[in-house]
Amino acid sequence: MGIKLRHFEPSKVSYLSLPARIESVQKLTRAETLYRIQLCDGRPLGHQPGQFVQVSLFGVGEAPISITSSPTQTPGFELCVRRVGSVTGALARLSEGATLGIRGPFGSGFPVQQLTGRNLVLVAGGLGLAPLRSLINYVLDKRPDFGEVHVVYGTRSPDDILFQRDIISWSTSDIVRFHLTVDIAPVGWRGNVGVVTTLFPRLTVDPDNTSAVIVGPPVMYKFVVRELLEMGVSADQMFLSLERRMKCGLGKCGHCQINQVYVCQEGPCFCYADLADLPEAI
Ligand SMILES: Cc1cc2nc3c(=O)[nH]c(=O)nc-3n(C[C@H](O)[C@H](O)[C@H](O)COP(=O)(O)OP(=O)(O)OC[C@H]3O[C@@H](n4cnc5c(N)ncnc54)[C@H](O)[C@@H]3O)c2cc1C
Ligand code: FES
Repeated sequence: MGIKLRHFEPSKVSYLSLPARIESVQKLTRAETLYRIQLCDGRPLGHQPGQFVQVSLFGVGEAPISITSSPTQTPGFELCVRRVGSVTGALARLSEGATLGIRGPFGSGFPVQQLTGRNLVLVAGGLGLAPLRSLINYVLDKRPDFGEVHVVYGTRSPDDILFQRDIISWSTSDIVRFHLTVDIAPVGWRGNVGVVTTLFPRLTVDPDNTSAVIVGPPVMYKFVVRELLEMGVSADQMFLSLERRMKCGLGKCGHCQINQVYVCQEGPCFCYADLADLPEAI
């Protein structure tokens, strides 16, 4: 099958960093913060679930960050950022009212049209819940368009659980089945302990009409894909998001390149069946 390369002509707008304002800041964990952002011209960002933006801070640099809010929840948008280095560290020092630059949205996003009408297994590991949350909340806002929906989330410890407000709402809702696990738990934790695949025996889905979307650390993909294949989910109904170092986001610099594929353009979301030609990808 293979990845069909798109011929992408970046518009001038893709090079431009648009001024945007931080509307709210919410600390999620020790390292991750949620920002609600609004473009200064008042327009919605116009993104699809799974796309990302380049966040630029004047005098510091740029970093690619996934859009974590659903396009159904506009005009602003949300980013969940883990503090790891210069750009994300400088961002962590900003507060409500600060301005920053936004380029994008970039990338292919999740194949929402292809997922419509199907049962969904949405699997996130760690910070992978940030891009997946955009799709989860999109699906919940368009609930009649989808079949049974399972959200499976694994993280290191209870202290690392992201989006606790959303999780309370997902786990008490009867329109989505939410499954949570942690790798290590303190005394008193009453939930599941183990890697994310330990939750798979609980998933009761008809594999013939099921699609899966997986976002997490690279090590997770191999094991999750194996479980899904064993459940009978077809390789061309599994979609995963690859993270690579990125600079331009425009298919120009080659930082994100795997063979002939620019992840910033053709991805970051790929169909698993298409990745057979790209063994270096996962
Ligand atoms: C498509 C895409 C979507 C992303 N979405 C998110 C998101 O939603 N939230 C979020 O917090 N982060 C996300 N990231 C990762 C984020 O871009 C990096 O953490 C960020 O660029 C680091 O920039 P910095 O200047 O703070 O760190 P730097 O000072 O550049 O580096 C600090 C440390 O982070 C490492 N690092 C830098 N870039 C990456 C990277 N791309 N992957 C792994 N390690 C890296 C460096 O090797 C170094 O050890 C995403 C990356 C991509 C490619
Ligand atoms: S980030 Fe420059 S080519 Fe993809």
